[in-house]
This record gives sequence, C-alpha cells and structure tokens, in this order.
Amino acid sequence: MLPSQEACPAVQPLATDPRAGAIARMDWDELAATVAGCMACGLCKTRKNTVFGVGHRQAQWMLIGEAPGADEDARGEPFVGQAGKLLDNMLASVGLSRADAAQQSVYIANVLKCRPPGNRNPEPEEVALCEPFLKRQVALVQPRVIVVMGRFAAQALLGTDATIASLRGRLHEVRIDGRLIPVIVTYHPAYLLRNLADKAKSWADLCLAQGVLQKSLAMSEPRQ
Ligand code: URA
Repeated sequence: MLPSQEACPAVQPLATDPRAGAIARMDWDELAATVAGCMACGLCKTRKNTVFGVGHRQAQWMLIGEAPGADEDARGEPFVGQAGKLLDNMLASVGLSRADAAQQSVYIANVLKCRPPGNRNPEPEEVALCEPFLKRQVALVQPRVIVVMGRFAAQALLGTDATIASLRGRLHEVRIDGRLIPVIVTYHPAYLLRNLADKAKSWADLCLAQGVLQKSLAMSEPRQ
C-alpha cells in the first residue's frame, strides 16, 4: 500500500542517522519490518513496495545493486527485470543461483530499498538514510565476499567517489560490525545490457570474487 503523502517528510541531510544504532541491533524480522514501514525519505511517497533483499540469509556471496527499478518496485524483489535476468545468467556462469538454498550461495540486496521515481540517480541523503539497513543486512549475512555492481553501489559501500574503471579488477575491503569483508567491484548489469563488450570483464570480476571466496574458505574458521 502507498503510505500517505503527509506522513513522508522531505529528505533532510543528516550528519548521523539517529536510527542507525537501533537498526544495527535488529534481527532479520525486525529489520524487514522496519524497511517495509520506512518513511525516512520522500521515496516512500512514490514506491509501490519496498525491496528488501532475496537469497540465503547466511550466503557466502552478497551482491549489492543500486536501487529498485519499476519491475522490482512492482514485485518487491531485487533484480527481476531485464538486468536481473542477465544477473541470474552471470551467476549461473559461476555456478550460483539466488534460489539455491542448499549451497548457502547468494544474497542480493540494493543500497536503496525504494525506487527513485523514473529511475533517477539516488540522492546522497537517500543513500545516507538507507545505508544502515544495508549495513545490518551485511552484518547478519556475514558474507565471505561482497560484489558491488555499478558506480553508486561501489561508491556508497566503499565511501569513495572513484570511477568504476579505477575500482574494478582488484580487491577492496569494508569493515562492517567489526568484520573485514572482501569487496569486488563490477559493472551494473543494466550497463552491461547496453555495453555487451564489457560482459567479459564482469565475468572476470566474478571469477576474481570466486577466487577470494575459495581462499577465505581454505583459510577458514567456521562462522559464528
Ligand atoms: N537495478 C538495481 O540496481 N537493482 C535492482 O534491484 C534492479 C535494477
């Protein structure tokens, strides 16, 4: 259901989000319910559904996109449109599937949980207000590797304004909830739909992530 217009305040830039401490302690059910009812920014006025995330909640891989598009907004699930089909094919090429519960393989989420109208770029304030949700998802999943897809997701997660070209092809790390997690940057599937020649680079990025994961498993202590 569309929340009432009056209930949604205009986005205010916040130095620190007062909700962040509480969000950082939530379990999955609380987090999902809080996202579903979130009215922290103006995107709640235009969304049909919030888009929380999909996949195994203890996945070894976590894939992070930018924001829901029209199909995702309608379905409440990330990456279900054309870009999602390409993403599923790319995952299959390295033996992964969002539906695969047995191998604890993949969890997929976005930086923003609501669709920006007309698929415009996310505003920095929207990213800042939504970020605690993503960080809590990462803390709960405890992935062995994160793959960020596209400039906005990469810049938001890594806290940089560097270009995709300069970020991809090498290992990054992010510290979330005291845990250092390897991060690989790759192109957004929607970009790849328009630039087919770069698909090979994206496949190489997934292979790099797979190598990072294998190394982590080889050195591994079981997750708590
Ligand atoms: N693009 C994204 O970044 N995320 C989605 O869920 C769909 C398209």
